[in-house]
Amino acid sequence: MPSKSWIPWIASLLTAIAFAADNTTCSSNATTLHLTDGPYENYFYSDCHSATHVIITSPLPSTNLTLIGPRLLIAWPAGNSGIVAFFSPSNGQNGTLGIRLKNSTSGPALDPIYTAGDSSNWNASVGVSGTIVFNDSAVLTVPILGSIRTIRDFTEGPSIIYPAVQDAINFSSSTSDSATLNRTWFDNITTTTLSFTPLNGSDAITLDRNINTTLTFAPGTYRFNASFNYPQLTQLSPQAVLNNASTDLIQQSPDQTTSLSFLSYTDKLLAGTWRFLTYFGRDSMISLLLLQPILSPSATEAVLASVIERINATDGSACHEEVLGDYATWLNLQKNVSSTQPGCDYKMVDTDFFVPIVLKGYFVDTDSGRGRAGRFFNRTAGFLEENAGKTYEALALRTAEKIVNTTAAFAAEGGQKRENLIHLKDGEVVGQWRDSTYGIGGGRAPYDVNTALVPAALRAIAALSRAGLFPSHPDWNSTADAHAQIWEDESLSFFEVSVPRDAAKQLVDDYTSNLTIYSGPSHSEDITENVLFYALALDGNDGQDNVRVMNTDDCFRHFLLNTTNQTQLTGYLNQTADHVLQPWPVGLSSDVGLFVANPAYGGAAVYARNFTNADYHGTVVWSWQLAMMAAGLARQLGRCDGNATSNIPDFCEDGELYAKVLRAYNHLWTLIDANGEQLSGEVWSWTYDDGFHVEPLGSFTPTESDIRQLWSLTFLAVHRENFRQSLA
Ligand SMILES: *[C@@H]1O[C@H](CO)[C@@H](O)[C@H](O)[C@H]1NC(C)=O
Ligand SMILES: *[C@@H]1O[C@H](CO)[C@@H](O)[C@H](O)[C@H]1NC(C)=O
Ligand SMILES: *[C@@H]1O[C@H](CO)[C@@H](O)[C@H](O)[C@H]1NC(C)=O
Ligand SMILES: *[C@@H]1O[C@H](CO)[C@@H](O)[C@H](O)[C@H]1NC(C)=O
Ligand SMILES: *[C@@H]1O[C@H](CO)[C@@H](O)[C@H](O)[C@H]1NC(C)=O
Ligand SMILES: *[C@@H]1O[C@H](CO)[C@@H](O)[C@H](O)[C@H]1NC(C)=O
Ligand SMILES: *[C@@H]1O[C@H](CO)[C@@H](O)[C@H](O)[C@H]1NC(C)=O
Ligand SMILES: *[C@@H]1O[C@H](CO)[C@@H](O)[C@H](O)[C@H]1NC(C)=O
Ligand SMILES: *[C@@H]1O[C@H](CO)[C@@H](O)[C@H](O)[C@H]1NC(C)=O
Ligand SMILES: *[C@@H]1O[C@H](CO)[C@@H](O)[C@H](O)[C@H]1NC(C)=O
Ligand SMILES: *[C@@H]1O[C@H](CO)[C@@H](O)[C@H](O)[C@H]1NC(C)=O
Ligand SMILES: *[C@@H]1O[C@H](CO)[C@@H](O)[C@H](O)[C@H]1NC(C)=O
Repeated sequence: MPSKSWIPWIASLLTAIAFAADNTTCSSNATTLHLTDGPYENYFYSDCHSATHVIITSPLPSTNLTLIGPRLLIAWPAGNSGIVAFFSPSNGQNGTLGIRLKNSTSGPALDPIYTAGDSSNWNASVGVSGTIVFNDSAVLTVPILGSIRTIRDFTEGPSIIYPAVQDAINFSSSTSDSATLNRTWFDNITTTTLSFTPLNGSDAITLDRNINTTLTFAPGTYRFNASFNYPQLTQLSPQAVLNNASTDLIQQSPDQTTSLSFLSYTDKLLAGTWRFLTYFGRDSMISLLLLQPILSPSATEAVLASVIERINATDGSACHEEVLGDYATWLNLQKNVSSTQPGCDYKMVDTDFFVPIVLKGYFVDTDSGRGRAGRFFNRTAGFLEENAGKTYEALALRTAEKIVNTTAAFAAEGGQKRENLIHLKDGEVVGQWRDSTYGIGGGRAPYDVNTALVPAALRAIAALSRAGLFPSHPDWNSTADAHAQIWEDESLSFFEVSVPRDAAKQLVDDYTSNLTIYSGPSHSEDITENVLFYALALDGNDGQDNVRVMNTDDCFRHFLLNTTNQTQLTGYLNQTADHVLQPWPVGLSSDVGLFVANPAYGGAAVYARNFTNADYHGTVVWSWQLAMMAAGLARQLGRCDGNATSNIPDFCEDGELYAKVLRAYNHLWTLIDANGEQLSGEVWSWTYDDGFHVEPLGSFTPTESDIRQLWSLTFLAVHRENFRQSLA
């Protein structure tokens, strides 16, 4: 047994070994990107050490000053970490203070910070440095240092501030007239630091420790340094995210491929930036489904592994959102647990169903996937403490079992009843992608989950079973398919809404005349027959039987299923095509894209009130819904083009309908092409003044849109396809 005096010697030897390979300079160049979005200026910086997104907000003349003020925000993928600093004008007159980032002498606006770890501070300190300019005297009102989740709790909704987080900020000033804020995380190890130094003769920063400590800046130029010392992720370069056949995209779409790389790491893809700079199951899997043709095996398996690692091994639920970094330690402390262990949120009901769909899409449908399945499913989990040592195969099996179990009642003989549909979890008001409070209008059984995700998941389980997975359930190779067939054929009718023609005209006219934000036509003269659509969900607010909001969620069924009930498929495509072609508020179409929701036919005031152009899931446009609708219509049109002479759906032989679906497809692409500027963003809204004009959602609500969202980058893979114009 070594004497105690050996221990420091061994420690320093280990340190020397660990850091011998450390590089201060990266062997490849840094990647930068600058994007402007209204009052938000976005700067991205990535190199071999770390990745950073900086957003400088400065009000524009048109800005609503109650919602948007001067702000410096720094977001880091590692640990979903960040810093925000809100400023206000010293004179108290909102709108008079502007801030901007100044170019550094070397060109790009941001420079890296990197200090290698050492024996006292094991992790390297990383971050960025930049120069900001205040046009007037400014006060730092609220700084938050630590987790993006803490920052979101403050920026969204009722401005929550946690004293335990705020009180841990140390303020200091120095003889060089600079000021520094730092906060050590709840882990007692990591420290986030933000410092400012006057440049070019700007005045010293004043540190005022009265009541709430603040910094005051004179008009002028200041250098800021933002850094933290948390373990970093390993980013996938654009070359590593894309498969070999798709590397040309790096030249063709440098912004989108750089953005995709910024969100891609060896063990997960992140949902968006800055607000969702972390794992989200639904976002990752939908993105994978749409991007599959261009993604490398490493990026594909990063998504699949991230989902499987986070499955709840007890009940098979897939994880919606991970909680890690400082926020995880903070949540653990709330439960009187002193631990930095990450956790997961399992409240969604849709996420489980995507799991077999993505597994099948890779391990059954692609050559590279088939070749790698054995090794992949043999891997053991390590991200969540409770899953340590469980194989990926065992975890995937739990989710498949959960799906088979919870969908069996509806598939049983005589079981096709409302109560056997998949409902939101008790006590939750959200459960699928429209996950804001009024996103599905208070509904309990969501449309997308029941009519598309369930049958597609069961089809995938059957296919995986035939490929040899799930050997403990050999019967799934046929029973899962039989159940899928019942869900495909029998679930849709529960959601059907049919509004008689004259009532529909009246509803659309009344809705339009009550809108203050819209002065255009109601288009109700376009309603020449009864209006048919599928409700967002069953059992809505105010005792509604169903949520009578027209919507884009048809795209799930078109994208995920080749349904075979011909009468149903024909009618279904017909009504989707109508909604895509018809202008809102009769249909979903507008010059700024398809609105994801149209409450015009709801009647009750609750619909119009909760689905506005200021609502996250209201009369607004989501990029990925355009992508999935385009891919979905292409899949259905593609069934008519097939070389096979059998299994051609009836609608393909109906010249009028085929032409209408093709017209809807082409119209959708006209809208997509006309909104190219917006497509990589998460969601956008509009104003109306003799026509629709794109307006950031953040202009109307504290819910800012992400400038770059993973599933909005799917137009890298989704393109307009050529289908024959008519039936020969
Ligand atoms: C460190 O340097 C080696 C060779 O000098 C290089 O191969 C490696 O990519 C570098 N690592 C980083 C993180 O830059
Ligand atoms: C880095 O950028 C410089 C200047 O643009 C260029 O000459 C060099 O080839 C780049 N290096 C790499 C590894 O891409
Ligand atoms: C600014 O936003 C606030 C809060 O959402 C809202 O009440 C107010 O009407 C808005 N002002 C204008 C001019 O739109
Ligand atoms: C001034 O700006 C602050 C911070 O953005 C905001 O909370 C406040 O409501 C604004 N005041 C007015 C009168 O708009
Ligand atoms: C900063 O530099 C970029 C390119 O290097 C240039 O396009 C931009 O106009 C510059 N901005 C300012 C404020 O000087
Ligand atoms: C944080 O700032 C305080 C002074 O305010 C300083 O004493 C402390 O060393 C700093 N912590 C770290 C980890 O840099
Ligand atoms: C950090 O230190 C505090 C005070 O010593 C302690 O109560 C807490 O458990 C520590 N946190 C962790 C995650 O170890
Ligand atoms: C100090 O900050 C707290 C929140 O951190 C806020 O509630 C309080 O109003 C502030 N006090 C003053 C005088 O600004
Ligand atoms: C996993 O599922 C079980 C059973 O539903 C539940 O009791 C447990 O809390 C879940 N685990 C987590 C971390 O949510
Ligand atoms: C999976 O692991 C088992 C046991 O460790 C091993 O026997 C088997 O060869 C592995 N399979 C593959 C495909 O790696
Ligand atoms: C599914 O049901 C079977 C049989 O009742 C049960 O053994 C299994 O634990 C269930 N699996 C899940 C994930 O709920
Ligand atoms: C399902 O598996 C069983 C047993 O392995 C086999 O006999 C049967 O033919 C398979 N059915 C299908 C549809 O593949």
